[in-house]
Amino acid sequence: MTEPSVLHDTKAAYDAVAPLYAELFSNALETSPVERAMLAVFAELVQARDAGPVADIGCGPGHVTAHLHALGAATFGIDLSPEMIALARRAHPDLRFDEGSMTALDLADGVLGGILAFYSIIHTPPRHLPAVFTEFQRVLAPGGHLMLGFFAGDDPQPQEFDHKVTLAYRWSPDSLAELLRQAGFVHVARTLREPHENERQFQQAQLLVRKPQEP
Ligand SMILES: C[S@@+](CC[C@H](N)C(=O)[O-])C[C@H]1O[C@@H](n2cnc3c(N)ncnc32)[C@H](O)[C@@H]1O
Repeated sequence: MTEPSVLHDTKAAYDAVAPLYAELFSNALETSPVERAMLAVFAELVQARDAGPVADIGCGPGHVTAHLHALGAATFGIDLSPEMIALARRAHPDLRFDEGSMTALDLADGVLGGILAFYSIIHTPPRHLPAVFTEFQRVLAPGGHLMLGFFAGDDPQPQEFDHKVTLAYRWSPDSLAELLRQAGFVHVARTLREPHENERQFQQAQLLVRKPQEP
């Protein structure tokens, strides 16, 4: 289980920067064609399977939640930070946003058709990530999809880095894919792109996986 102190620190850090974060990143998808392409693939697969709504977990100010919703995938947001949730509700009053943690989701087994965790698992201490992936498996319907966005690195071991908001980790896509495989997910697709000019100098990756139809 993720220590309460980590969750407390992450929540406090994002509460403190929520308006600035929203100002800086709410339009980020406009200049991110690779992310938009993968989100479109994710939205299409989730809708084709029609196994339930999508939870955007660690949704921040809700711009990616709204993007997925506009692509036709019934999507709601969950975030640890009450300030982020308040901003998301204000910016997207037609969508649902709930406070909550990916470590213990207030959702019944098998109710979700998809989970998006976009740059939100980056703050989970690596030793606690297997439990988070088990929780994602629990709430996903058979055949449901999970997509992760994260900062990438070459080292097989996750590397701590000085994220501007709070402590974060970057992962080699292979290492994270292996962890997902161990949690029971099947690999579907991945992207790895170079940093944009205005971004810190890390590659960025997306991993798309699926919960098998049968256990
Ligand atoms: C870097 S921001 C990403 C926000 C948004 N997904 C985006 O792509 O802009 C990370 C978000 O994850 C949330 N978060 C971190 N740990 C979380 C947890 N255990 N459960 C739910 N949300 C979490 C933070 O509060 C923050 O809003």
